[in-house]
Amino acid sequence: MSNLSITVDGLKLPNPFVIGSGPPGTNANVITKAFDEGWGAVICKTVSLDASKVVNVHPRYARLRTAGSNEIIGWENIELISDRPFSIWLDEFKRIKDKYPERVLLASIMEEYRKEAWIEIIERCQEAGVDAFECNFSCPHGLPERRMGSAMGENPEILEEVCRWVMSAAKIPVWAKMTPNVTHIEEPSRAALRAGCQGISAINTIRSVIGVNLDTLRPEPSVEGYTTPGGYSCKAVMPVALRMCMEIAKLIRDEFPGRSLSGIGGIESGGDAAQFILLGCDTVQVCTYVMKTGYRCVHAMLDELAAFMERHKFRTLAEVKGHSLQYFTTHHDLVRRQAEARERAKIAAGVQAESQPIKSDQEWHGDDFVKQTDSLARG
Ligand SMILES: Cc1cc2nc3c(=O)[nH]c(=O)nc-3n(C[C@H](O)[C@H](O)[C@H](O)COP(=O)(O)O)c2cc1C
Repeated sequence: MSNLSITVDGLKLPNPFVIGSGPPGTNANVITKAFDEGWGAVICKTVSLDASKVVNVHPRYARLRTAGSNEIIGWENIELISDRPFSIWLDEFKRIKDKYPERVLLASIMEEYRKEAWIEIIERCQEAGVDAFECNFSCPHGLPERRMGSAMGENPEILEEVCRWVMSAAKIPVWAKMTPNVTHIEEPSRAALRAGCQGISAINTIRSVIGVNLDTLRPEPSVEGYTTPGGYSCKAVMPVALRMCMEIAKLIRDEFPGRSLSGIGGIESGGDAAQFILLGCDTVQVCTYVMKTGYRCVHAMLDELAAFMERHKFRTLAEVKGHSLQYFTTHHDLVRRQAEARERAKIAAGVQAESQPIKSDQEWHGDDFVKQTDSLARG
């Protein structure tokens, strides 16, 4: 039987499935529901010292569906961080930890570019008994106007400075949550790790405009006829998240061995989670899928991940972690490998073996275009 438990940065989790910061961790009621359903850990909705500045609008979500099955594959939100007073959050952290002392609760925190504010929020959450922090350097909307969120995450220098403030006060593990709205995710990740953060979480939402309503001609979500770019999540973002996690995992492997990585973005099944772990993640976070289907989805995810591990005879998650990183190389190397493989096939068959469907761009043909495209997607 595969073992799904994991110890990451000293935190003992019964399984790697973590509730990602957002509505599914927005108050004590829903956090305890997540623990009751068996989630490995919960990261609360991002909290700040002064919630009075947080004013949400509605609608604040807009969804992208497939044409045929009407399945939701993309999700934009313009939701801000928690609008609930910090003092209430502190009471709830205490109550949750009293009731679930063995379960892992991470406080997602965000503050302005001011050392005293970061130190105060760290110290007060720590006193309330949370197990670890996730610093939200990545919210793409609303907060950057106050130089918070992704305004920090997009600037490695500021990020490193803030992480050093955080690390000067934190006595428990700290994960830095990255924005994907940068060209090279390694740069802010390296800054956070250099400042001493134990782990990286990636990714937050991708800055987006989900669409324009063709009846009203208004972009969505439409608030009194107007909108602002928001953050994109759900199934559609998983390939971007996987690529970024792969890049961070290589950075950790090569420059910061022993640091942790929490993968987020579009996870909807145990198989999705397995892919993030194969690319170097210790834990995986789920946000939008819980909003689509509820907390119980973790049961199927656990079964699917265990079945995957059994199929490949992996006994522990440590054996899965990073297994597939070895299969990334340069395009130049792919060309070399394919030429060598063709040469071997030719020798074995004793004839000109030619498996390449299109040998040069000259061969593309207007009437066979879709068939030719399809042939290039097959192995
Ligand atoms: C409605 C909504 C609210 C979110 N709020 C937060 C937040 O307060 N803090 C944060 O760090 N991330 C927040 N996120 C981002 C998620 O934690 C996650 O990084 C992102 O949605 C990608 O994962 P997913 O596809 O599983 O949702 C929010 C996402 C959504 C959809």
